[in-house]
Amino acid sequence: MSISTSSLSKAYKAYFPIGAAIGPRHLRTHADLLSTQYNSITAENCMKFEPIHPEPDRYAFEDADALANFARINGMKMRGHTLVWHNQTPKWVFENLDGTPVSRETLLKRMQEHIHTVVGRYKNSVYCWDVVNEAVADEGEDILRKTKWLEIIGEDYLLKAYQFTHEADPSALLFYNDYNETNPAKMRKITQLLKNLLERGAPIHGMGMQAHYGPSHPKAEDIRLAIETYASLGIKVQITEMDLSVYEREDGPCELRKPTKEMMDHQATRYERIFATLRECKAAITGVTLWGAADDATWLDNFPVRRRKNWPLLFDENHQPKEACRRVMDFQD
Ligand code: GLA
Repeated sequence: MSISTSSLSKAYKAYFPIGAAIGPRHLRTHADLLSTQYNSITAENCMKFEPIHPEPDRYAFEDADALANFARINGMKMRGHTLVWHNQTPKWVFENLDGTPVSRETLLKRMQEHIHTVVGRYKNSVYCWDVVNEAVADEGEDILRKTKWLEIIGEDYLLKAYQFTHEADPSALLFYNDYNETNPAKMRKITQLLKNLLERGAPIHGMGMQAHYGPSHPKAEDIRLAIETYASLGIKVQITEMDLSVYEREDGPCELRKPTKEMMDHQATRYERIFATLRECKAAITGVTLWGAADDATWLDNFPVRRRKNWPLLFDENHQPKEACRRVMDFQD
């Protein structure tokens, strides 16, 4: 298989769009790879609250506009990521000028204004939004993570976020997005949250499974169970931020500058199995996005462990298909 004669997104045409998370830099460095191998993009950072709305009266749309433009020119879909999150949200959102916490009414107004402005601007570019990101607590009995949104607005902050987004773009598909989404305890909490929201009439159309996975967990069967569980709520599922780290979370620093053959073979087998599962679940799945375009630069370089490069994606440092990519594309269903 050569990259010029075959395409990942074309191989999946009958299944689901294949996306990559990117920033404006990728439009210079990865344009060919993106336009030939992928048919969807997500903004890795530039649509998040902090970069796009850094000050109360200032929006910075340049980077997100460039991405939206690239998607349009190349006939690609674009996912919106993300509107309400506890991270990468500036402090001013939650504070009065004197530093005291704003009232529920003020925060709801700010949320609504932000959502209407951002979602309204990208109405013709973005077909679906990760409206709320990572609202569920990993540990303990509480369903909701303790955040400023929860503290100031109360539990209905999610319902409001979905309502505001639906008002701003009634045709956009609205997702809830989270990680550790195959972990049984967290999956139960996410399912409960989504069920409650749907019962209260929240316009939610899909569950975004981030899919930041490791070399041994979760198993393909756990992933299938999660997809089936979320889909049983009557909503669609997308894989929104997929990468397969070659390291376990607890592995320490590693000076390897090239991946070993064993690492890449193991990863290829895992990608092959997981994508076979995704194809089997195609009735529920409406998109699969990788969290990056190629292994030359990904968020897993030096994170969460410093002095450790990672190779978590389907294309190598030279933007060529890896063994994992070949296996993902080589199927007869
Ligand atoms: C989470 C967020 C993403 C991104 C990754 C790390 O999964 O949803 O936007 O920040 O963490 O890169």
